[in-house]
Amino acid sequence: MNAIPQKQTAHKSIIKDLSLAPLGYRKLEWVSQNMPVFNILRKEFAADLPLKGKTIACCLHLEAKTGFLLQTLQTAGANVVACASNPLSTQDDVVAALADSGITVYAIHGENAEEYQRFMEMTLEAKPDAIIDDGADMVTMLHKKHLEQAHHIIGGCEETTTGIVRLKSMDKDGSLLFPMMAVNDAYMKYLFDNRYGTGQSVWDGINRTTNLVVAGKNVVVVGYGWCGKGVSMRALGMGAKVIITEIDPIKANEAIMDGFTVMPMAEAARLGDIFITVTGNINVIRKEHMQVMKNNAIMANAGHFDVEVSKGDLHNLAVSTRVLKNNIEEFVMADGRKLYLLAEGRLVNLAAGDGHPAEVMDLSFSLQALSLLYVIQNRSQLSPQVYNVPQEIDYRVAMLKLQALGVKIDSLTEEQEHYLANWDTNL
Ligand code: NAI
Repeated sequence: MNAIPQKQTAHKSIIKDLSLAPLGYRKLEWVSQNMPVFNILRKEFAADLPLKGKTIACCLHLEAKTGFLLQTLQTAGANVVACASNPLSTQDDVVAALADSGITVYAIHGENAEEYQRFMEMTLEAKPDAIIDDGADMVTMLHKKHLEQAHHIIGGCEETTTGIVRLKSMDKDGSLLFPMMAVNDAYMKYLFDNRYGTGQSVWDGINRTTNLVVAGKNVVVVGYGWCGKGVSMRALGMGAKVIITEIDPIKANEAIMDGFTVMPMAEAARLGDIFITVTGNINVIRKEHMQVMKNNAIMANAGHFDVEVSKGDLHNLAVSTRVLKNNIEEFVMADGRKLYLLAEGRLVNLAAGDGHPAEVMDLSFSLQALSLLYVIQNRSQLSPQVYNVPQEIDYRVAMLKLQALGVKIDSLTEEQEHYLANWDTNL
């Protein structure tokens, strides 16, 4: 693929077009109005400047909500440098507004694999004190190619399930060189972002791309984790007949009790009209499944990397391919069947949509910001390993969200506290 024409801005950013900034500013304004928790924190950060003098490198999906996170880190006093965590999720207008507001950004929608790597390298050239990663690509690059620099990183935060799986394997074999906060594993993250955020935005991406009816169709959701639960729940709400495939017997039981049909992919492949992969795993839809799919079957992925639907197998099986419409690629099989892949098999909610709703990212990014401060402020007590977000941070975000919603809850009486804390209390 040819490199895309790039514009170097006054702030050394490499973006598509700085003149798109006004559009980006309006998108940022819209999301900021719908992120009440983050706005409370933003006011505190503006007053206290807790990141003053620190350089924070971010490898994230560069759209409006993330843009507001970057601006907030800047408000907290940080020098912010960013690159994309996926070549298709970058919104050029948002990136232009960020570059215009003094954040250094290296990202262009549709950047090729070489550019993706080079932009990440350039981000690391800013010699960050801490990082925010999504999928652990930046952590991996630091450990593989910039070991010297990795030794100087205070720590960082990881946004998604797949990134944490990678970090835990680095932690396990002793190769992780700085502490990383597993933001994905906080309750206020996965219960809302993965389940409700992915649940809604995946369908937004699929519906706006295909503009087809969902009711009455067989929707196969591959993986019944937190994201899969959300995607299935919303499919059911639109009237689909939902089939789940799993490899975990507990999740499979959960799916059955939630009212779904469970079967192996070899069977589901013959029935599905729309397939959505959300496993964080590789080749969960592959040759033998594609060979038995119905004519016009549609495949989409919502897992972090574009490896869940085997694109290699699709290309090998196809006698011809064409892009039928933006984000819809057609693969004609030797027997005449046509199969469709959305958004090149990349996260369909981000590559073919605007990602999660702002109210959901309000929670995830509040956790991100507070976890980043935690790792920086507690650097002397933390060793190079993967840490859970402290419960106080999770609860603080939960309470702030209730406050923003105007919802009050009860608290324990002294008697109840005593009862719960003592196993031998007389009844
Ligand atoms: P999870 O770990 O809760 O669920 C994954 C599920 O997939 C598990 O139940 C596992 O048993 C199942 N699975 C693994 N291999 C399978 C196979 N071969 N066939 C069927 N099922 C299989 O993970 P979570 O949080 O649901 O995340 C899933 C993926 O989505 C990850 O890559 C994560 O990074 C990504 N993600 C994407 C988001 C988006 O905006 N699209 C948002 C949050 C996470």
